[in-house]
Amino acid sequence: MATSRILICDDEEGILKYLKKLLESQGMAVETFSSGTALLKRLSAGEAADADLLLQDVRMPDMDGIQVLREVKRIRPPLPVIIMTAFGTIDAAVEAIKLGAYDYVTKPFPKEKILGVLENVLERELLIRENRVLKDELGKPYPSDTIIFRSDRFREVYELTLQVAASSANILIQGESGTGKELIAGATHQNSLRKTRRFLSINCAALSDTLLESQLFGHVRGAFTGAVTTQKGLLEEADGGTLFMDEIGDMSLPIQAKLLRVIQERDFIPVGATRPKSVDIRFVAATNKDLEKEVAEGRFREDLFYRLNVISIALPPLRERKEDIEPIACHFLKKYAQRMKKKVDSFTPEALELMTGYNWPGNIRELENVIERAVILARGSAISAENLPMWKKPADPPGAPDNGFVSLEEIEREHIQRTLAKTGFHKSKTAEILGISRKTLDRKIVEYGLKTPGE
Ligand SMILES: Nc1ncnc2c1ncn2[C@@H]1O[C@H](COP(=O)(O)OP(=O)(O)OP(=O)(O)O)[C@@H](O)[C@H]1O
Ligand SMILES: [Mg+2]
Repeated sequence: MATSRILICDDEEGILKYLKKLLESQGMAVETFSSGTALLKRLSAGEAADADLLLQDVRMPDMDGIQVLREVKRIRPPLPVIIMTAFGTIDAAVEAIKLGAYDYVTKPFPKEKILGVLENVLERELLIRENRVLKDELGKPYPSDTIIFRSDRFREVYELTLQVAASSANILIQGESGTGKELIAGATHQNSLRKTRRFLSINCAALSDTLLESQLFGHVRGAFTGAVTTQKGLLEEADGGTLFMDEIGDMSLPIQAKLLRVIQERDFIPVGATRPKSVDIRFVAATNKDLEKEVAEGRFREDLFYRLNVISIALPPLRERKEDIEPIACHFLKKYAQRMKKKVDSFTPEALELMTGYNWPGNIRELENVIERAVILARGSAISAENLPMWKKPADPPGAPDNGFVSLEEIEREHIQRTLAKTGFHKSKTAEILGISRKTLDRKIVEYGLKTPGE
């Protein structure tokens, strides 16, 4: 996380010093102001643009804190403000909250209290900012990522995708993690009449109910504390386009009910608004859960399931379409060789065989990671078996696990053997170096069947 930048405005020298020291000790960058005028001057000049938070005292000689707050909210609405009240004057605190302050603390405050409040705000800000970035990212036209395959199994899926893309029916994509659900979702949009409108996406598993709801529905100004501006939700922004709802199986029942209403009525009401807005959205949902089972067990609404599952696309795992491994591997090889500026352009036959024999629990995403790593490790122009994590040394002792990993025992065995060799098989010296007793060493030599000269 980047350094948090905190502004503090208080007329008491002692408080400024105390807070500055405390926050700086937590790795925050602090700027202090001894009057509201000084602070507002800087903010209205467009300075301190990267500030994350303002700690504002209520009692100030030149201009009272509430007045400062009002101005700050006018000049820089998104800047969260925490009000410090000196005399526990709850009235001022309540007024501050109504005016858009994020929270308040009562002086004198223990340091845990102030740090707790700050952490809260900063975390929330970070989340909102990440969401904003995410939205900006997804607002761009969806990159028509190449979908690669050779198998008939996937060809069928791909043809179905193109065929249903043109319709306006909702689509449910099911498949194990890493099988390409998001890629296929993008393809349904790209190949539809909606492609000139937006493809937006939201991950239902990553957000709390409150955040998910406000992201989807948006809110009007003043709908809740901190809602200082009206914010459009994804439903409104995706109007005319496609909304991709990833990990739909993780959506809570209350939000499911709200989503069902949107799909049925084709309208929605932003949080805090009174009138519904109508929308035209194609919903594409994805999950790696077995949704029918979720329905049977009462975790997913049956009516919503049928609304989303008008068309269903099931993505087969990579191990059930092994012909696709080679062409997709070559695709990633090209991508990473180019990115790392390495001249690697092929696989040895052994490497290909190893990849085909593997069962790929993480599917295409795992394949991508494996190739990226292999390109880093490759020494020649071809990726060899040794560059793959599922490769196992031919000389591995019998009984070693065949997943390419090495057990601690194996490492210990090798290390003892090597140390013995280095000390010229001087057992006491070896035991001393290894930090074990002579007796233990003897036992391990027998246990591991280690070689000593003459044996
Ligand atoms: N057929 C394919 N051709 C080329 N690249 C693919 C193919 N299928 C998947 N990929 C790539 O593999 C990665 C994983 O795909 P994607 O994110 O669509 O999977 P997912 O099913 O949504 O996974 P998760 O359930 O983990 O979210 C992406 O980088 C994607 O571009
Ligand atoms: Mg995904």
